[in-house]
Amino acid sequence: MSNNMMDDLEKILFSEEELAARIKELGAAITADYAGKEILMIGVLRGAVIFMADLARAIDLPVAIDFMAVSSYGAATSSSGVVRILKDLDEDVENKHVLIVEDIIDSGLTLNYLMDNLWSRKPASIKICTLLNKPERRKVEVPIAYNGFTIPDYFVVGYGLDYAEKYRNLPFIGVLKPETYAG
Ligand code: XMP
Ligand code: MG
Repeated sequence: MSNNMMDDLEKILFSEEELAARIKELGAAITADYAGKEILMIGVLRGAVIFMADLARAIDLPVAIDFMAVSSYGAATSSSGVVRILKDLDEDVENKHVLIVEDIIDSGLTLNYLMDNLWSRKPASIKICTLLNKPERRKVEVPIAYNGFTIPDYFVVGYGLDYAEKYRNLPFIGVLKPETYAG
């Protein structure tokens, strides 16, 4: 790829092809597990959008989609532990089978909060599907039903993930050079 975003990357962690293959597998597993049911996918804005678009098309069941936005890191790379709802759902989740779709689980604080919040609305079930899992930095355990890839403590960008709103449109996942965010 010939763009200047490439120069900010140390390496490519997962290629476009690897992502597509893994998402096919996740979609097949979800399709089997939810057979006969309808799914309400809840995407966590904004990082999960690209993953969610591909995942939804890998599931061979009726899928409704909705979104929530919660406070995130902004331009810093460590979690404040403070979670705020910036945009709530448009749909009622009562009696629905909710599948939360996340780009990456890091400290777990965001999803821990979201799970509690969504359970209080009386859905039929809630499961989590995350593209990436960074267990080294976990502060609170969250139950992950579907995990794309477990990764070391790298700061990753691409395929929806950003640094200061940049790199989301890279079709692969890459590791940012430390000097890109330290400097
Ligand atoms: P938690 O609450 O699990 O936060 O600490 C998860 C959210 O943090 C962001 N995050 C990242 N974003 N590259 C990113 O672009 C990363 O390596 C990274 N690690 C965490 C992300 O928004 C995620 O939803
Ligand atoms: Mg996110």
